Amino acid sequence: MSIAAADREILAIHGGQPVRAALLPYGRQSIDEADIEAVVQTLRSDWLTTGPKVAEFEEAVAAFVGAKYAVSFSSGTAALHAAAFAAGLQAGDEAITTPLTFAATANCVLYQGATPIFADVEPETLNIDPGQLASRISRRTKAILPVDYAGHPADLDEILRLADRHGLVVVEDACHALGAEYKGRRIGSIAHMTVFSFHPVKHVTTGEGGMVTTDNPDFAETLCRFRNHGISSDARMRQAAGQWHYEMVMLGFNYRLSDIACALGLRQLTRLEANLARRRQIAARYTDALRNVAAIHPPAVRSDVNSAWHLYPIRLELDKLSGTRDQIFQALRGENIGVNVHYIPVHLHPYYRDRFGYKGGECPVAESAYERLISLPMFHAMSDGDVGDVIGALQKVVSAFAH
Ligand SMILES: Cc1ncc(COP(=O)(O)O)c(C=O)c1O
Repeated sequence: MSIAAADREILAIHGGQPVRAALLPYGRQSIDEADIEAVVQTLRSDWLTTGPKVAEFEEAVAAFVGAKYAVSFSSGTAALHAAAFAAGLQAGDEAITTPLTFAATANCVLYQGATPIFADVEPETLNIDPGQLASRISRRTKAILPVDYAGHPADLDEILRLADRHGLVVVEDACHALGAEYKGRRIGSIAHMTVFSFHPVKHVTTGEGGMVTTDNPDFAETLCRFRNHGISSDARMRQAAGQWHYEMVMLGFNYRLSDIACALGLRQLTRLEANLARRRQIAARYTDALRNVAAIHPPAVRSDVNSAWHLYPIRLELDKLSGTRDQIFQALRGENIGVNVHYIPVHLHPYYRDRFGYKGGECPVAESAYERLISLPMFHAMSDGDVGDVIGALQKVVSAFAH
């Protein structure tokens, strides 16, 4: 072996040459000139906040997912808070969710003074396990918040069947899953309310932003009021009607998304299908290549879903490796591959441990997965060369840690 070739085999954390010269992030927005032009045009228009672009963006998202109503919010977190309110959650109630999610999913239950209850995940998809969920339903349960982890839809038929039997509201956290399909239906048209995020690492971005889709007119009306201080009309409606008069009918927030953001979102939405197709190509290439890398378990996909591939989380078979997940993570970062971990199970965060007394062991499947999880870079603007670098770095690192 030449010295240069040998140097490429030495891990960068041990002084070898990294696979890439510069860091490849795990996720990244893509903004083109048409996006910029759309934002500039809105800046030159009469409306910066709730104006025509908000309504256009909401209609476009509703049409895309196949829902009757879409209500925009200033973030996915604000959208979750509004959905928790519309679901009627209040002090004394419980809502059941998955531990393997971003904390915002469970936090929205706390915002309403209710208590989140964690049901463990299925070992394959890492989505909430309907059997575990059923065992957590009590007299206090009012809502279920499944998450489409990594973009793979949760088992919605089973979840809705349980909800129906017990009179519960299903708020699906689909912040990873815009464009995903479950049994031939688009996510956003199935649960009672579905929540999306437009954070920059998501499929469509508005900088910050979120949306709730629903077929229920009462939920839609409550959501609109909740995001606008609990007021029954917005400024544009009053201007159109030539009236100044408004009334606050409930306690709400300013959770509005601006026309500037929606102008960007509308342009981004025109590329969503292409972005989804590219993410599916990248996932297929990873899965294909990982078949030949020992000690790595690629994400499972059920035959009746089409994932939106927000994330590509691999699981390490640690018994076949001499290092921990964190050591392997650091070695991949050393190769300039921007890996990440999704997620620390929510009940194990210090806030949840302190407030609810969780000690670990409550959700063994999620906790064991967490110790093994690494998210590979996944975003639609990744080049074939970027994908090759990730695969090359994984092969290099895993062979260095193989027993
Ligand atoms: C599963 C999940 N839920 C909720 C959120 C919150 O969305 P946002 O960042 O738009 O507030 C995120 C964001 O990253 C998420 O991944």
